[in-house]
Amino acid sequence: MPDFGFDLLGTDGQARRGRVTTAHGTIETPAFMPVGTAATVKAMFPEDVAKTGAEIVLGNTYHLMLRPTAERIAELGGLHKFMNWSKPILTDSGGYQVMSLTELRKLTEEGVRFRSHIDGSYHMLTPERSTEIQHLLGSTITMAFDECTPYPCTKEEAEKSMELSMRWAVRSRDAFVKREGYGQFGIVQGSVHEDLRLRSIEALNGIDFEGYAVGGLAVGEGQELMFSTLDFTTPAMKTDKPRYLMGVGKPTDLVGAVARGIDMFDCVLPTRSGRNAQAFTRRGPVNMKNARHATDHRPLDEECPCPACTQYSRAYLHHLIKAGEILGMMLLSWHNIQYYQQLMQGMRDAIEAGSFEDFQAAFLEEYNGGDI
Ligand code: GUN
Ligand code: ZN
Repeated sequence: MPDFGFDLLGTDGQARRGRVTTAHGTIETPAFMPVGTAATVKAMFPEDVAKTGAEIVLGNTYHLMLRPTAERIAELGGLHKFMNWSKPILTDSGGYQVMSLTELRKLTEEGVRFRSHIDGSYHMLTPERSTEIQHLLGSTITMAFDECTPYPCTKEEAEKSMELSMRWAVRSRDAFVKREGYGQFGIVQGSVHEDLRLRSIEALNGIDFEGYAVGGLAVGEGQELMFSTLDFTTPAMKTDKPRYLMGVGKPTDLVGAVARGIDMFDCVLPTRSGRNAQAFTRRGPVNMKNARHATDHRPLDEECPCPACTQYSRAYLHHLIKAGEILGMMLLSWHNIQYYQQLMQGMRDAIEAGSFEDFQAAFLEEYNGGDI
């Protein structure tokens, strides 16, 4: 079996075309990872997720440790077998979800003590426990345990938070059991401050992770500040390791971040908005609840190969969504994941062809031009 690795296949400006090699197969980058929080990409069969071209999905330490528990998934043969997904799985480490989903929690040097959002029971996550849980799940890519610095915050708070995450990164790495073809990523923090981001990168470079993530973005700072933060962050990161921008984003975010040297993304947006009537298309987001679709015979997007577009009309999709039918959510989730994967394929092709700048300009013009 090949060990975990990253091959940089080509560049176009800052944009990178690469390949991640893992125990569970390869991932062509730039890549988008659909989110499968509770051991399922919501409203989709795993084989259909794969049909869209997705080569890796994300799972969540926080949710799975509470239900059905990491120990139970380990007893049942690991997360891959449990959810019937044999390709790579990346698991987030839980700190971000604890802070966003729980009301009562206590953050100390040791870790975070919190109450379950499901039944109110008490739990503790530390770098060691998070890393152990991800090991029990059999995660292909384990994430270091970090604190996602809230935005806005003072520079002093951002510094304290980043320094804590860097101490936790050391402990996460020490707790990681390296297996052939498996990897662990460190997470760069530092909010929107250049000196803090550079110090964070320095600290993580001293630990030889298999990849590096950029955390603490898409937390309310807006696209312009996210891009300007990436402008000084990615050029300081190692070129021979994958770079993952956590929790991002909208289609325009993905294209702008690839232009700034990001290789991997995850976001709930395509699946969450698919369950909430929003479809992403080449011509921008479309709200399928809108009455203008009620008698429209045309497909959602005549160029999309997904079943929502090849087998059904806008009128039918509109009806399903208005009626609250499960099939409506399933079809829009499939379409949105398909759209995201096609967007990534388009970017990979453009980087290979050396035409990323033209791709970006054409994408933005069509995307912002309005629905047909
Ligand atoms: N998801 C989105 N942002 C973050 C982050 O900063 N850290 C982690 N662990 N997960 C995230
Ligand atoms: Zn479609």
